[in-house]
Amino acid sequence: MDEIDQQLLKEAKNALGLAYAPYSKFLVGAAILSDDGKTYAGCNVENAAYPLGNCAEASAISAMIMGGGKHIVRVLTVGSGNRPVTPCGGCRQRIREFATFDVPVTCVGIDGGEPLFTSIEKLLPHSFGPQFLLSE
Ligand code: THU
Repeated sequence: MDEIDQQLLKEAKNALGLAYAPYSKFLVGAAILSDDGKTYAGCNVENAAYPLGNCAEASAISAMIMGGGKHIVRVLTVGSGNRPVTPCGGCRQRIREFATFDVPVTCVGIDGGEPLFTSIEKLLPHSFGPQFLLSE
């Protein structure tokens, strides 16, 4: 794991510690390095009305947009257990909105085990994205 990932892991772990997940008890933190050079983190926030819960990645993206970041350069997710916690399908699409295909995604289990080093292209091949709708 390189220095950037180590920094993102620190911030994602801190976010995981703030997760509100009383129903699943599955804690997730996500951290983004943005094109503005800043990092943004988020945690999952569940709700008694289950479908209203937010994933950690969605929270981190909201923090990035509010902080002035425009593009995702790197992402790291960390979650409960010893398996690398990968972004859910919906969050792959959420990340895709702000990331080029080559953006590295590092996935970690808080209890250890080998991290997974992947990319948006691998997680979401043949994806639908902004270029279908926006003229660039
Ligand atoms: N979760 C995330 O925050 N990110 C993911 O990509 C996977 C799932 C959360 C949602 C829910 O609060 C809990 O993990 C169990 O699904």
